[in-house]
Amino acid sequence: MKLPISDRLLACARFVRPGDRIADVGCDHGYLSIHLLQEGIAVSAICSDVRQQPLQSAVRNAEKYGLSSKMEFYLSDGAQNIPRDFDTLVCAGMGADTMVSILEAAPWLKDSRYRLILQCQSKTPMLRKYLSDNGYAITKELVLRDGRFLYTVMEVIFDPNAPRLTPAGCYLPEVLQGDEADAYRAWVIGGLKITTAHQNDPEKEKILQELEALALPLGELAKISDF
Ligand SMILES: C[S@@+](CC[C@H](N)C(=O)[O-])C[C@H]1O[C@@H](n2cnc3c(N)ncnc32)[C@H](O)[C@@H]1O
Repeated sequence: MKLPISDRLLACARFVRPGDRIADVGCDHGYLSIHLLQEGIAVSAICSDVRQQPLQSAVRNAEKYGLSSKMEFYLSDGAQNIPRDFDTLVCAGMGADTMVSILEAAPWLKDSRYRLILQCQSKTPMLRKYLSDNGYAITKELVLRDGRFLYTVMEVIFDPNAPRLTPAGCYLPEVLQGDEADAYRAWVIGGLKITTAHQNDPEKEKILQELEALALPLGELAKISDF
C-alpha cells in the first residue's frame, strides 16, 4: 500500500538520521512517521497533535500500515505533554506564530542533545529571528518546490555560541541550499519589493538593499511572478 506522502514531507524526512527516535509534533495523519519507519530510517516515533481528530487519523494509519508497535500517540499542545526521550523533533506544516509558541512553551528543547527539523509555512523570517535570538542555530536550510509552492526545511540545534543572524540573514540565511535556492531568493526579494513599495518601513528598505546586493543569477527575478 503506497503512502500518500507529499514531496514537502519527504524533504523533511531527508533530514532525519538513521537510527533516530523522532517526535512528530503536529503529526496530523502521521505520514511522516510512517514513512520514516517503513524506510527503516527512524526506529520509533512519538506522534502528537493538539486536536483529537488528526491524532486519531494517525492512530488508524499506524494500524493500517502495521507500525503501531513503533509509534506512540499523545494529545498535546506543542511538545508540552510528550515524553522527552527522542533525538529529533519534526514540526512541519505550521506558521511561525504557532512554531514560536510551541518552542516558547518547551524551553527544555534548548539542549544540544536534540535536533529540530522545522518546516514553516508562513512568516519564516520571524521564526528565524526567534531561533537566532534564543540561542538556536540554523545549520542547514533546504529549499524545495512542491507543486506551485516553494518551501524551506531547516535543521536547527541549540548552540548559544553561534553567531546571531542579521536582519537580512533572517530573510535569506547563508545556509540556504538546494536547486531552488535562487528561485527562493528571488521570491523573497520580490516580496520585500512589493511590501516596501506600499509601506514606509525604513528597516525593510535597508534589508531589501542588502539582499539586492547579493548576486542573483540573471533571469531569476523574472520568475517571481511564478509564485
Ligand atoms: C497543516 S497540518 C500539518 C500536518 C503535518 N505535520 C504536515 O506537515 O503535513 C498542521 C497540524 O498541526 C496541528 N497543530 C496545530 N497547532 C498545534 C499545536 N500547538 N500543537 C500540536 N499540534 C498542532 C494541527 O492540528 C494539524 O494537524
